[in-house]
Amino acid sequence: MESSEKHFDVIVIGGGPIGLSAAFHLSRMSARTLVLEQFTFFNQLGSSAGVSRQFRIPYPEEYMVKLVRQSVPFWEELQSLTPVQLLDKVGTLWFGDPKVHSSEGNIAQAEKALTAEKVPYTTLTAAEIERRFHFRNLPSSYTGLFQADGASIDLKATIQTLYNWNLASRFVTMKDEAPVTRIVTRQKEFEVTTPLGVFVAEKLVIAPGPYVNSVINLLGFQIQATYWNMASAFYRKTRPDIQYPTWFVFQNPVGANGNQFYGFPEVSWNYPGYVRVASDFVIQPLTSPTQRTLVPNPEELAFTAAWVKEHMTGLEPAPQFTSTCLVALSKIPNKELLIDFAPAYVPNHKNIVLYATGWAGKFVPVMGKILSDLALDGHTQFDISHFALGHAYFKPLP
Ligand code: BEZ
Repeated sequence: MESSEKHFDVIVIGGGPIGLSAAFHLSRMSARTLVLEQFTFFNQLGSSAGVSRQFRIPYPEEYMVKLVRQSVPFWEELQSLTPVQLLDKVGTLWFGDPKVHSSEGNIAQAEKALTAEKVPYTTLTAAEIERRFHFRNLPSSYTGLFQADGASIDLKATIQTLYNWNLASRFVTMKDEAPVTRIVTRQKEFEVTTPLGVFVAEKLVIAPGPYVNSVINLLGFQIQATYWNMASAFYRKTRPDIQYPTWFVFQNPVGANGNQFYGFPEVSWNYPGYVRVASDFVIQPLTSPTQRTLVPNPEELAFTAAWVKEHMTGLEPAPQFTSTCLVALSKIPNKELLIDFAPAYVPNHKNIVLYATGWAGKFVPVMGKILSDLALDGHTQFDISHFALGHAYFKPLP
């Protein structure tokens, strides 16, 4: 391919952790790669806002358990590039009403999938969860599972490691404040217009998080998505000796409101002395990312605070800090992640690789490899059949 600062082998649209991870893997294959970020690198406006995420192996689907385990060597590879610890291995605790099915699945199904994949875990009664993990006043019917490989992800350090690699790589160019406003297909090439100029490549990797529809609309398709502006709160520890694992509680909704919460231990990189607890529901899903504000929903915060007060130990009852993150979720049941080429009617569709929707923090290193494989080879060794677009997309009316 022609060599100039306008021409690349691959243009990655989206400079969050997934886009940066794709560029990392593309650079390892000597593909000249341009990363376009509409805001600034490290911005707090997308699904990677905040600086901690959960790495967990329990999933209700065996194929998800497989993929998360396959991501481990890619985390190790990334870890070898930085002295900063990326995963703080404290274990995953899933507990609650065993009958509840939520967006994260169900405890019994996860146990089945873990057993099928020969992943070690322990089962727990409500009394054991209270004794070992400092929760309290749990209904005696609650059960739980503990999986020791779960971890808090230092997302900021993960992004920084990928960014540093790409900055040093002679194969990668990164441009921020470069929203894509037009994509034109000319024979075998895509011309991508931004305020910084027009860039050309034969392949596109599209990973702009919740802003996916504003990009793929330029190619004539849309994802059926809903948007959650998720609220988190940070509670000061009054008992420094108590350390929580990463955890998730499954409970039946209260009236019209969700009732699932998740949390983290204290981590050194995010408000030391505090723990993060968040609601895994929103009272009002959004129909477009443009509707979001950076203000967390006060009712969601109040529900979370009431749960913390009733069921956790060694925390001040009122949070001191809050944050939000915006995630796009596929409207198609059982299709959390979408990884595919563009639909067949889009010209050169096999040269357009897309990742959209879902909670992919734990998959960042392996997702970059998958997207890079698809862009360069047209296939990947990972089983992505469950993430095919299927009915998750539509063609907007002209
Ligand atoms: C996850 O591990 O995928 C997850 C954890 C908490 C909230 C949402 C997603």
